[in-house]
Amino acid sequence: MSDTPRARAARLTHLRRAGLAKGDPVSLPITLASIYHLPGDPAGYAQYGRFDNPTWSALEKLLAHIEDAEALAFPSGMAAIAAVLFSQLQTGDRILLPSDGYYTTRLLADRFLKRMGIGVETRPTASYLDGGFSGFRLVLVESPSNPGLDICDIAAVASAAHTAGAMVVADNTTMTPYGQRPLDLGADVVVAADTKAPNGHSDTLFGHVASRDAEMMAGVAEWRKLAGPIPGPFEAWLVHRGLETLEVRFDRMCGSAELIARRLAEHPAVGAVRYPGLPDDPAHNLARMQMERFGFLVGLTLESEAAAETFIDGCALIQPATSFGGVHTSAERRARWGDAVPAGYVRLSVGCEPAEELWAAIEASLGRVGPDSARSRNE
Ligand SMILES: Cc1ncc(COP(=O)(O)O)c(C=O)c1O
Repeated sequence: MSDTPRARAARLTHLRRAGLAKGDPVSLPITLASIYHLPGDPAGYAQYGRFDNPTWSALEKLLAHIEDAEALAFPSGMAAIAAVLFSQLQTGDRILLPSDGYYTTRLLADRFLKRMGIGVETRPTASYLDGGFSGFRLVLVESPSNPGLDICDIAAVASAAHTAGAMVVADNTTMTPYGQRPLDLGADVVVAADTKAPNGHSDTLFGHVASRDAEMMAGVAEWRKLAGPIPGPFEAWLVHRGLETLEVRFDRMCGSAELIARRLAEHPAVGAVRYPGLPDDPAHNLARMQMERFGFLVGLTLESEAAAETFIDGCALIQPATSFGGVHTSAERRARWGDAVPAGYVRLSVGCEPAEELWAAIEASLGRVGPDSARSRNE
C-alpha cells in the first residue's frame, strides 16, 4: 500500500491486528501497572512503570505511524516541549522562540532556561526568517501561531537554521500530522499537545515528541525515564481511542472552518478575520504551499471586549473555554490571558457539529452583539 497520508490514515485502525492472537480483544486493553513480574535478569522485559507501559507503547505506535517517525508520549504538550528543551540544551546555548506563539513555552524558557545560562530570544512568526539563525542552537517554530494564526515558511526556516548549525523544533499543535507535516518540510523534531484535536474530547491532557533523529530521541527518552514525566495508562488509552477518529474529525472541522471563515469575513459585525484558507489572508500563499489543510482555528475581531464576550457566551453552539480542537466548537478572547491581540479578538475552534447548523448559531449570536460593531466597521 502507498504511504500517502490517506493510506496511513486507512491503516491506522488496523495496526494492532498483526500482534493479535486468536481470542484477544480487538480494542486496546488498559494496563495499570507500576511493577512487572520480573525474576532474574531484567534485560529485554518490562521492568518498572516509569520505564515501560504497554498502553503507552500501543499509543506511541499509532503516533509513530501518523508522524512517520519515532514518537514518545508525554502527559501534556508542555511536558513534551520541556523534554526536548531540557534534554537537548546546555549552558551557553541560544534559542529562538516565536514572540506570538503559545505563551507558556516563552514563560518556561524565561523562568527556567535563562537561569541555567541559556540565551532566549524571540521573533514574530510572520518575519521569522529575518535576521537569520547564526549562533542559535535551537529554533522553535509554531505555524500557524497560537493565537494570532500567522505563518512562517517551515522549509525555509529549516534550511537556513541547518546551514547556521541549529536544530529546528516545530510545535504542530494547531495542525496535527493530518494538516501539516513539519518533519517532511525539514524540521528535526515535532512537539505537539495531543490535549487538542488528537484526543479531541476535552477530557485529558497529553503530548508527544516525534523525530527521525534516533540520537535526539534517545536523549528525550532518557529525560523521560530519569525525570519522570510519564503519561498515565488511562490517559494514553483515551488518546489512542481519539487518534482512531482524528482523520474524520479533522476533516469535518477543517471543512466547516473554511466555510465559516468565508462567511465571517463577509459579516458586518466582524471587523477582521484571520484564517490561512482565506484567499486574502496575508498567510494564504504560504499556507497553500506547506499545509495539507487550513486548520480548524479561525481568528475574528469584534468591536470590543464586551462584543466578543457577548458573542461567545450568547452562542448556543459555542463552548466558552480555553484550549481548542475538541468535538464541540469553543472560543475565547485571548486578550483575557494577556496575549498581544486586540481586546475583541476571538479565537474560534470549529468542532464537529454539522456546519450549517453551527453557522446559523454563530450568525444568530453575532446579530446580538449590538449595532456599534457594524457601525465602527463601516466608518
Ligand atoms: C501551540 C501549543 N503548544 C503547546 C501547548 C501546551 O499543551 P498542554 O496544555 O497540553 O500542556 C498548547 C496549549 O494550549 C498550545 O496551544
